[in-house]
Amino acid sequence: MSRFKTISWIYLLALIIELILSPSGALAYNVVGFGAKGDGRTDSTLAFLRAWIAACSSIRPAMLSVPRGTFLIKSVTFTGPCRNSIQFAIQGKLVAPDNIYALGNSGYWIQFYKVSRLSIIRGTIDAKGAGFWSCRRHGQSCPQGARSISLQWCNNVLVRGLTSYNSQIMHISINRSNNVKIQNVKINAPSGSPNTDGIHVEYSMGVITITDSTIRTGDDCISLGQGSMNVWVEQIGCGPGHSISIGSLGNNLNEGGVQNVTVTNSVFTKTQNGVRLKCWARPSSGYARNVVFRNLIMKNVGHPIIIDQKYCPNNRCPHKNSGVRISQVTFKNIKGTSSTQAAMTFRCSSSNPCYGIKLQDIKLTYINLLKRPTLAYCENAGGSSSGTVFPKSCL
Ligand SMILES: *[C@@H]1O[C@H](CO)[C@@H](O)[C@H](O)[C@H]1NC(C)=O
Ligand SMILES: *[C@@H]1O[C@H](CO)[C@@H](O)[C@H](O)[C@H]1NC(C)=O
Repeated sequence: MSRFKTISWIYLLALIIELILSPSGALAYNVVGFGAKGDGRTDSTLAFLRAWIAACSSIRPAMLSVPRGTFLIKSVTFTGPCRNSIQFAIQGKLVAPDNIYALGNSGYWIQFYKVSRLSIIRGTIDAKGAGFWSCRRHGQSCPQGARSISLQWCNNVLVRGLTSYNSQIMHISINRSNNVKIQNVKINAPSGSPNTDGIHVEYSMGVITITDSTIRTGDDCISLGQGSMNVWVEQIGCGPGHSISIGSLGNNLNEGGVQNVTVTNSVFTKTQNGVRLKCWARPSSGYARNVVFRNLIMKNVGHPIIIDQKYCPNNRCPHKNSGVRISQVTFKNIKGTSSTQAAMTFRCSSSNPCYGIKLQDIKLTYINLLKRPTLAYCENAGGSSSGTVFPKSCL
């Protein structure tokens, strides 16, 4: 390319970029200016990538804007580091291709990799997972499944006002990232959709907060995996779904622990479990400690309070003692109804009993009209109870 052509190309590009200052003072980069089409059919992946590269190289704070419309996007990684802060402002909707193989085996649909000072604001995303779930259910050879939003090695991230539909597997995954705030998100997938965790956290710290969100999905509303630290979960509506869980832990011999987790002011509706710690029945160096579950309402929940160190679905474990050490777990002010008699279950490992379990002000009644009492089950669990605890503590 001649020098003149290069220069005019750059000039054109500069024109395409709306060099308009947005109210926040950020430079705005509209994906449509980079060739994206909001018609729901045209593949806009490359246009999004070009807009990202331009915004990410901005010396000033940048805003990558997605206007109204439906934009078809394939698997894409938005890579950092960027030169300044970057806001992904979505007014329209991003959809994945219908073909379940189109997202390939990458494991993600929309990934942010090594990006700092990132905010993802508003917008709707739909991964169209139904074809993938059906492939899984029929036991065909399916691709590995894509996380809808994947934050990988990111720092100082805000996700606010996003709505996610029908992820293939997890809706939002936070992995190896620090200081992440998730606010006001809405997550939706059918109750029977397999492995569609709402928000999954792994090897992440700083402070992770997940607040003011509604999660209806086919697996855990929130799952805090190995290496999750300093996590604050507040004002969550969970259900349908499996639970708000710590785990599954202990699938690996060597893995990071989970500590300093608070789940508060949340409501569970018709979920399989309420708050849960689960560990595979196998040796591991993992641990979970300093966990507080408080001010929770259970409405017709299968197992409102449960620690299960003998977790082994489909016999995918050697049925050995869990090596995960569980201690200092508080359950306080948890009220409502249980849809099974087992309102409280503490099934801990015989080689690593749970200790420091605290129960305070618990009232969980059986939903069954026959009004049988709820029960508490303990196995290798130690701790104390105070206030009114119903069913009666077995610790
Ligand atoms: C988290 O990151 C690690 C290392 O990059 C990777 O092996 C693992 O599969 C990731 N997990 C998720 C849930 O993204
Ligand atoms: C525990 O986590 C909270 C956030 O939930 C954080 O503010 C606090 O600093 C953490 N405490 C320690 C000792 O790291």
